[in-house]
Amino acid sequence: MENILIAVENRIATITINRPSKLNALNKATIAELSQAIDDVENNQEVRVVILTGSGEKAFVAGADISEFADFSPEQGKELARLGQESLFDKVENCSKPIIAAVNGFALGGGLELAMAAHFRIASDNARVGLPEVSLGVIPGYGGTQRLPQLIGKGRAMEMIMTAGMIDAAMAHSYGLVNHVVTSEELIPTCEKIAGKIMKNSPVAIGAAIDAVNAGYVDGINGYQTEIDCFGESFGTDDFKEGTTAFLEKRKAQF
Ligand code: COA
Repeated sequence: MENILIAVENRIATITINRPSKLNALNKATIAELSQAIDDVENNQEVRVVILTGSGEKAFVAGADISEFADFSPEQGKELARLGQESLFDKVENCSKPIIAAVNGFALGGGLELAMAAHFRIASDNARVGLPEVSLGVIPGYGGTQRLPQLIGKGRAMEMIMTAGMIDAAMAHSYGLVNHVVTSEELIPTCEKIAGKIMKNSPVAIGAAIDAVNAGYVDGINGYQTEIDCFGESFGTDDFKEGTTAFLEKRKAQF
């Protein structure tokens, strides 16, 4: 991997987008490597939680790499968005292991879209986020027009997209776009602390909960029905046996 770093420690995989000289902008190669990294953590039995962050102190990701698509045709543009969504952004959202975006600076365009595809977001107090695409004459193409209104409501999303402006960490927090705002030094430790709480719980149940929550946002799928199915399937798992037995035996469950 040339553009990302992966470290696995204490069952947490930290994936760092590592192009600081370009503010970690997502070029084609970085998207392909991230896609591979998500497959790797999904298949790595040792990994229970994933933290996704950017290298350096300035940026999480400052967007898709503008230099790569400046001369694209409409067909190439469509393909760029389709490939990105299918190969990476949807994969992040549907990963069975929790993915926490540690937003350590600018998260713009594809950067904010990547953070929004993650299961939730923690920001450092210097973070600034936005979808500036219309200032370039395009629109968000990696799910931003869909996930931003889901997370903050249609009116606020419309304003952010139409103004192409950035909001600071405090406003992102007040919008519910990020769950917590902490200092830069505390960012990764805070994510690790939350990961620690997650890891006490059943990974199988967490994967099923991710499926059920996501199902509510997919056209043509009844999220309540998915919940019923996933709930029922839980009863056939070893984790359910361990969780309920541990409760009845007044001990901590070992998942
Ligand atoms: N694509 C390609 N390169 C990018 C980039 C992007 N999205 N964002 C930043 N870079 C590059 C810059 O071109 C510059 O490279 P260079 O040193 O080779 O010229 C380097 O990263 C540093 O960026 P710079 O603009 O000098 O930093 P800054 O602190 O002055 O400004 C931003 C920071 C984030 C405000 C500014 O980089 C920016 O507006 N980036 C584009 C954001 C955007 O529109 N993203 C959506 C894309 S769809």
